[in-house]
Amino acid sequence: MPDRPAAVGLLGGGVIGGGWAARFLLNGVDVRIFDPDPHAAERIDEMLENARRAYRRLTLVPLPPEGALTHASSVEEAVEGADLIQESAPERLELKQRLLADASRAAGAEAIICSSTSGLRPSLLQSQMAGAERFVVGHPFNPVYLLPLVELCGGGATAPETLARAAAAYEAVGMRPVIVATEIDGFVADRLLEALWREALWLVHDDIATVEEIDDAIRYGAGLRWAIMGTFLTYRIAGGRDGMRHFVEQFGPTLSEPWSKLVDVPELSVEFVDKLAAQSDAQARGQTITQLEQQRDDCLVTLLRGLRAHGVGAGETLAAWERDLARTVTPPPRSNGAAMAAPLELFASEVEPEWIDYNGHVTESRYLEMFGLATDELLLHIGLDDDYRATTGSYFTVETHICHLRELFAGDRVRVTTQLLGCDAKRLHFFHVLLRDGEEDPIATGEHMMLHVDAATGHAGPARADVATRVEALVAAHARLPRPERAGRRIGAVPVG
Ligand SMILES: NC(=O)c1ccc[n+]([C@@H]2O[C@H](COP(=O)([O-])OP(=O)(O)OC[C@H]3O[C@@H](n4cnc5c(N)ncnc54)[C@H](O)[C@@H]3O)[C@@H](O)[C@H]2O)c1
Repeated sequence: MPDRPAAVGLLGGGVIGGGWAARFLLNGVDVRIFDPDPHAAERIDEMLENARRAYRRLTLVPLPPEGALTHASSVEEAVEGADLIQESAPERLELKQRLLADASRAAGAEAIICSSTSGLRPSLLQSQMAGAERFVVGHPFNPVYLLPLVELCGGGATAPETLARAAAAYEAVGMRPVIVATEIDGFVADRLLEALWREALWLVHDDIATVEEIDDAIRYGAGLRWAIMGTFLTYRIAGGRDGMRHFVEQFGPTLSEPWSKLVDVPELSVEFVDKLAAQSDAQARGQTITQLEQQRDDCLVTLLRGLRAHGVGAGETLAAWERDLARTVTPPPRSNGAAMAAPLELFASEVEPEWIDYNGHVTESRYLEMFGLATDELLLHIGLDDDYRATTGSYFTVETHICHLRELFAGDRVRVTTQLLGCDAKRLHFFHVLLRDGEEDPIATGEHMMLHVDAATGHAGPARADVATRVEALVAAHARLPRPERAGRRIGAVPVG
């Protein structure tokens, strides 16, 4: 991916810096990180392990080889050779100004320099930098390796080109940049979150609700909707057929009451903080931070995959990232006739514990998912990229026959080989074999027929000449291979009764 940085320099490796390290490394980017805390490396390793665990479930599309992680002993060492520098040090203006100034003097002239600040103004942060036009705030959300949002906000000296380059770089590692055009404290997301947080603190302070009751009030209701529709679309629906106008008419008057405490803040006295901490301990019921993080990540992955199925919100970002990954890992079509006379090997993965169902076997649907991903790779291999799909058409599956032959277990490494059996102007007939690494006996086979469908008419139509030529060459080469024993098989009839 051209916009993906080859190497990044990270300043600060705490909750956010560690999350950045994981996102970049798992996207194949080399990371050099500087954090003076001697325990930082250990914490980053733990976070990386959490992220690897989450990514294994997030996508079956093969990830690029992990980037290399280096612990640097100075700012200068961390930023050397980096295309992008991300500062994630504690939220203190003078500290960040100094770090960014040091980084700006040591970094290459082309490097973009970003800060993860939750709310400090970019104009202040860039004020002591050399080449301040390369600076932009890139404000992420925890866990950085799973949540796609990154708010971008430039200061007075920031060049528009820096915003565009930073947005492209973040997008290339699966994120969703949102540009905050006006420089304001707290940007957009943290202003909203702070309003909620302030109100929640008042409710606890005034003994109206416990921390657990407040969390329940969010997670059983509005919290579920937010990932899908945010606030404004939600209220549009709540307004019924007349949408937003009706909603404002109905609920507008209560805004002037008002129910909430607006900008007042409860005093964070020792007693109040003790109360908050005690309620929070009771709510956690003995679960460690690591356990809570893993539970959060597992549910986030499920949510992201669910949203992806509907093409909504963060699910759309996930799908776009997967398309990019699939494009980058696909080997170029082979032109050498001899090399083409072997089955293609376009998909490999590991069997995840989550794929195992109640009886200890891999759930049936996962076999189709693996064959489906191998098919996606095949289509890319023969030249069906996004452009082709948008302008010309695509192959649609019309028939599938899977034979389940042997068992798979959690942790098994598997791969799919693909042999093309036949084609004509519109049809593509091929055979997948799922194998466990190091074995020759298939675990399962999948035979598939696809039909080329024209993008303009929605009806079956011939593939474009270049794709047809590639397919014909593969079919001719694969005709020299033995025909798979199970090709053309159907389910044997069982006598009635
Ligand atoms: N925690 C969040 O939810 C969150 C979300 C978005 C943005 N942020 C922002 O990210 C930044 C980091 O926050 P965090 O939550 O990761 O804090 P943190 O305390 O977990 O991590 C800060 C890290 O910076 C290191 N550090 C201290 N001095 C340093 C220096 N001179 N050079 C390099 N590293 C140094 C510390 O050792 C620590 O590991 C802050 O600006 C914060 O506002 C935080």
